[in-house]
Formats: sequence, C-alpha cells, structure tokens
Amino acid sequence: MTELIYPQIPEHSLMVLIGPSGAGKSTLARTWPASQVLSLDALREAVSDDAGDQDATAEAVDVLHLILERRMARRRFTVIDATNVTRAARQPLVAAAKRHNMPAVAVVVATPLDVCLERQGLRPDNQRAPEDVVRSQHHAMVHSHQRLAAEGFTIAFADTLYRLEPFLKQLSQTREDGLRRDGSEGLLLVRRFFGPEILPLWRWQPGPAQRTGRDRVAEICLGQQHLTLAFRHGVDNEGDFDFDFGFDVLLPCPFDPECAGQAWAPVYSVTDLHKALTGLMDKDPDIICTVHGRPDDVDDHEAADDDHEDRTGLQTQPADAVRA
Ligand code: CTP
Ligand code: MG
Repeated sequence: MTELIYPQIPEHSLMVLIGPSGAGKSTLARTWPASQVLSLDALREAVSDDAGDQDATAEAVDVLHLILERRMARRRFTVIDATNVTRAARQPLVAAAKRHNMPAVAVVVATPLDVCLERQGLRPDNQRAPEDVVRSQHHAMVHSHQRLAAEGFTIAFADTLYRLEPFLKQLSQTREDGLRRDGSEGLLLVRRFFGPEILPLWRWQPGPAQRTGRDRVAEICLGQQHLTLAFRHGVDNEGDFDFDFGFDVLLPCPFDPECAGQAWAPVYSVTDLHKALTGLMDKDPDIICTVHGRPDDVDDHEAADDDHEDRTGLQTQPADAVRA
C-alpha cells in the first residue's frame, strides 16, 4: 500500500477527502484556496438553494464531475469535499484523474465516531446528518481504507498533514491585500466593524469633517436605499463601556417626527446596520438627538416635570457623538 507522509502531495493532483459527516472535511478543505475546492454541499446549494437538500445530490454530483473534468484538463490541483465513503462515489473521481494522467490522493479524515456524532448537535437543522447515517458513513470509511490502493489512490491521513501554516499564510495574504487597498481611504475601521463586503458601498461625504475637524460622515448607498453614518471617537460611555471610537447611524428622532435635529445611535455590526435600515433601532435607548438628548433624559424630565410643553427646550446633553 502506498501511504503518503507530508509534504509529498503532488502539485498537479486530485485530492479526495474521505470521512463521515462531522469528520472535519470542510474545515480541512478551507485551508486550500476556495477555487481549488469542489464542495458537494456548496454545489447542492448552487442547484437548489439548500446545501442540505438530499434530493439535489444527483444534480450536484453531475455538476461536480463536470467542473472536475474541466479542471483536470488544465492540470489544476483540486480537492473534493464530500463524504466519498463509497466506491461508487470515488470511482468516477479516480477515473477522471487517470484520464488526465494525474495522481489521485485519498485523504482519510479518520475522526472518531463519537466526535462526528457530537458535532452534529451543534449544526443548523438542514446540515445535521441523522445518527444512523453518520454511523454507517463511519463504518464505510473504515472499510474503504483497505480498498483505496486497489482503486488507484495514494493514501494519506488528514492528521498527518501540515495545513495550519498554509492556511494562516493564505488568510494573512488576503488580509494584507485588503488592508493595503482600504488603508489609504480610511476604511480600516469600517472593515473591522462591518466586514469587507460593505466597503464597495461606503462613501465618505464631504462636510462635517471640514467643519468640525473631527467627525466624518459617510453613506452606505445601494439604489433607492441608504444609511447615513458618522465616525465618532473619544467617547467613553459612562466609564463602563470603554469604546474609544466607533460609528453612529442617523435615525429618525424618536420623540418628534417633525424634529429638525439629528438622532444618532451607535452601531457595532452589520446586524445593527440591518436593524437601523428596517426601523428596529428607532427606539434604541442609546439614540442621542441633537435637540432632545437621550431617551433617558426625556423620561427623567417627564417624571420630574409634568409640563410637557417645553420639551423642545430641554437641555441637550453634551456628547461627543452629537454633531450638527
Ligand atoms: N472541527 C473541529 N476541529 C477540527 C475540524 C473540525 O473542531 N480539526 C469542527 C468544526 O468547527 C465543525 C465541525 O467540526 O464545526 C464539523 O467539521 P466540518 O469540517 O464541517 O465536517 P465535515 O466533514 O465537512 O462534515 P459534512 O460532511 O457534514 O460537511
Ligand atoms: Mg462539510
């Protein structure tokens, strides 16, 4: 039997991962560039919108074989991320490699059955494999082991591979490229708060930055929908929340729809952006209106003074987040 020891994975080869659901195949596969990985789950999702839709398996396998064939014709290194515990699943893969004169390496992801089962519990419903399925996949993996060489594979075990270093290298490269691209436009914090996907929609506005020399206002704009945000720094929220900088989103004033002031609330994530756009943040207790102050201030005032008439005359709370 031919067994591989790191780092002898041929550059131009096909790598077939073998293991039951929950073994860690996709986690291992992610250590290679995404373009080199053919994931059966991803292709099920591509054809049916649901990675867990077992009825879509046959079509997803068709697509997988087609892409594999095209990649092999270019002698591209390819990883197959699927259970591959049956000979029927493996045979067309090894045949494609042979047709193109490339070695086929079987990587057995031999995770203990109890670990594979335990991991199912942590997954969303549509990605959870039933216990009997995982058991039989595990059993089939163990039995495959003796047959792989005869089928034409070279054999390696996942736990003999050294994949952390290339994984970190790849992540670091992607991150460094992103930072270089964004750095000159002051987008480092935008990326950190909201993720790189938001960057193409982000536009710094001319205006308050010049007037105050401090805050910058930006828009996230796509078609008819947009959000206005401002960069804030030097805010220490009453000592218990030690945030030195961040972003506020512009919301309607929670007290008076006619209010001429601006109401800002802090946002820390894309989830907050989504809430702001859909109105779920309109009653946020952290909103500070440049006319009304914080909701707490208004409540306190109402409790202490029954005269609601002079609401607009409320002392606004001085706050760094306020700009107008
Ligand atoms: N996992 C882990 N340590 C590893 C590998 C995986 O803790 N060395 C965890 C992952 O965080 C993941 C779970 O195990 O939540 C399952 O791993 P995954 O790669 O998704 O398993 P697959 O073999 O791809 O399962 P499936 O066939 O169902 O896609
Ligand atoms: Mg997987």
